[in-house]
Amino acid sequence: MVFPYTRLRRTRQTSWVRRLVQENYLLPSDLILPLFVIDGDNCREPVESLPGVDRLTIDLVIETGRRAAQLGIPAVALFPAVHASLKSDDGAEAWNPDSLICRAVRALKAAVPDLGVICDVALDPYTTHGHDGLLKDGVIPNDETVEVLVRQALTLAEAGCDVIAPSDMMDGRVGVIRAALEERSYTDTLILSYAAKYASSFYGPFRDAVGSSSALGAADKTTYQMDSANSAEALREVGLDIAEGADMVMVKPGMPYLDVIRDVAQGFDVPVFAYQVSGEYAMLSLGAERGLFDRTKAFHESLLAFKRAGARGILTYAALEVAATLPGGR
Ligand code: PBG
Repeated sequence: MVFPYTRLRRTRQTSWVRRLVQENYLLPSDLILPLFVIDGDNCREPVESLPGVDRLTIDLVIETGRRAAQLGIPAVALFPAVHASLKSDDGAEAWNPDSLICRAVRALKAAVPDLGVICDVALDPYTTHGHDGLLKDGVIPNDETVEVLVRQALTLAEAGCDVIAPSDMMDGRVGVIRAALEERSYTDTLILSYAAKYASSFYGPFRDAVGSSSALGAADKTTYQMDSANSAEALREVGLDIAEGADMVMVKPGMPYLDVIRDVAQGFDVPVFAYQVSGEYAMLSLGAERGLFDRTKAFHESLLAFKRAGARGILTYAALEVAATLPGGR
């Protein structure tokens, strides 16, 4: 059947029929809100490169977590912005049970128990050099790094973190972390692996937010994060992480890697998440601020793209404002 018998505009002519044929939906339950945590009391510190995003003290993290839960957002991802005096060569603060992130997790789980809490496993907020792993003679040693990442993961699990999210891209870390969790009876602690994480320019504002960009300087993470030219390799990464015990996997960044999200969603029976990273958020925010497009519509469109590609959920700094505009959002 061709024109004029087939006219695709027939199913677009009114709101009711457009709603009837709609294929994908954005729901508050699709969204995960990343939050930056700082030490102190009742204080918010704007992140200059992320318009509208503040670093929050634990009391305000709780307030924001409550708001997220009210809006139907299932989980938050916490990232510490630690004081420079707590950074070291080996990032030992990462396995301190009284660290800022551990205190934040305990307080948030006590105040808003039904809100999922996700924490990164990687050393970059804690190292003086800004790398996700240890740095020895100019290289990031894989196996030694995994040994300390396990300590970080166990410390977070003990603090009450629901989801351990290794974002470091070391080989074999998911298996070692899973085994350690099982051994210590953290059998229900979930692992969301940043399985296909690319060495990307779009993490710039995040590195400002956690203070790792000045530490990193001109160095990059290309010896452990993926080359943006590759996609078959992403499937190998995902396959290995699932085999090692990942419950969920992530592709990151989001919008420039929609093909990878689609490939992973079609290739594996595992929930796939996408991270609309800081640079993506900043571009959309600044574009809207300049009047180039409507902020709310642009965020909706960008997030629906992830659903279309097959993502089960999306980490986005816009989670609160987007959820508030969705059905069920208040
Ligand atoms: C750290 C980490 C990064 C992000 C999440 N976890 C930055 C990096 O790898 O340098 C980026 C998130 C964002 O840009 O929003 N391992």
